[in-house]
Amino acid sequence: MKNNFKSLVVVGSQWGDEGKGKITDYFAQKAEMVVRFAGGDNAGHMIEFGGARHKVTIVPSGIFNRHVKNVIGNGTVVNLTNLVAEMKKINEAGVDTSNLFVSDRAHIIFDWHCQIDALQEESRKERIIGTTKRGIGPTYADKASRYGIRICDIEQPEFKDILKENVDYHNQIITQLYNGTPYVFEEVYAKLMDNYNVIKNNIVDSGEMVAEAIEENQFVLFEGAQGVLLDIDHGTYPYVTSSTCSANNASTGAGIHAKHIQKVVGIAKAYQTRVGFGGMPTEIIDETAHRIRERGREYGSNSGKPRRIGYFDAVAMKYAIRVGGIDELFLTLLDVLDTEKEIKICTAYELDGKCIKTMPANDNDLKRCKPVYETLPGWEQDITKVTSFAELPINAQNYMNRIKEIVGAEFLGFSVGPDRKQTIMLKGEFE
Ligand code: IMP
Repeated sequence: MKNNFKSLVVVGSQWGDEGKGKITDYFAQKAEMVVRFAGGDNAGHMIEFGGARHKVTIVPSGIFNRHVKNVIGNGTVVNLTNLVAEMKKINEAGVDTSNLFVSDRAHIIFDWHCQIDALQEESRKERIIGTTKRGIGPTYADKASRYGIRICDIEQPEFKDILKENVDYHNQIITQLYNGTPYVFEEVYAKLMDNYNVIKNNIVDSGEMVAEAIEENQFVLFEGAQGVLLDIDHGTYPYVTSSTCSANNASTGAGIHAKHIQKVVGIAKAYQTRVGFGGMPTEIIDETAHRIRERGREYGSNSGKPRRIGYFDAVAMKYAIRVGGIDELFLTLLDVLDTEKEIKICTAYELDGKCIKTMPANDNDLKRCKPVYETLPGWEQDITKVTSFAELPINAQNYMNRIKEIVGAEFLGFSVGPDRKQTIMLKGEFE
């Protein structure tokens, strides 16, 4: 293995769904460990190889590489029912999950978190966020307000009392605030223990495990979920997820010190998509959007909802590179643009008659931003069999080069299709 990097973070640099799963799986072929550090089963990472398509939501995307240890870190939130179901599916596909490890410090998503998530969405009316209703926000809120339950709590002698108080507390919120359905303690406990017994042997002190791997000079890959523009601090608040999904959280969410992070790769789609609500200056709603959506299979991997489509937003990308500490980009789904006559790149926004080159803080302002475009000719040919940058049509090369120039970051590689084989590295470090 030629790679010089012992720790690499892979994050989404847009609004999620950039193809992180595919790229993580690709790098995982060379890695010893893959660690998920944030989010929960709101993610939907698709991995394709050997003609089969696999989806993981909370299990790290390295699971299909048998030599890799896959760690669900302390910074994640875990729905044990969904984790057990996902493990079962992976096993049914002939893949072993004994190399899957779950942090004892991860917080548990309970059914009430999912119900509160849905009830809060209903109560937001026209300010709906468009969450995945996987209970992510309410679970992270409980973590911050110290009402959360962690996996390590389950073995404690007073656990039943703690859980009972927790059920009562959430039942009050659900019935008194939202008129929702309360939970029965005995049922909650029985379900939790059924799931816990399945994963019991996979639970570890993940921080220690990751630190040991780093100490032994193993190649550790940190897998982000969602994208920098959905980050709780730096994203388009309040239309964001509830975790720090940029690389800044890779160390905290994996339980190691930030000094161990050596390189951050931002996965960037060749155009823009967004699932939920919130500002999206380059959104297009026409035939082009329809064509890109169909060619890119741009439907939510969890919800099946059509994703919003837009032109590549270089303003948002520069912002993501800055706040997310992204060193290099990896461009995905370039082949989706094969049919386009011309392709636009947004180089600035116009807001209240002024030209601005960064993202405004408030989403209302972002919604009022008009994109300033540079238009490039398309390549109008099939690039799915290309195996190097030099083989790309000149207009595709120009498109990548122009993005590189505007955003000021190099490409580590690009991909021209969903299969592992359609991933092309531009730099030799990982070959
Ligand atoms: P939540 O994470 O379910 O609370 O959803 C908050 C926002 O993040 C919504 O706009 C979701 O559509 C978006 N989101 C959450 N997970 C993903 C993902 O994996 N891909 C794309 N968008 C996501």
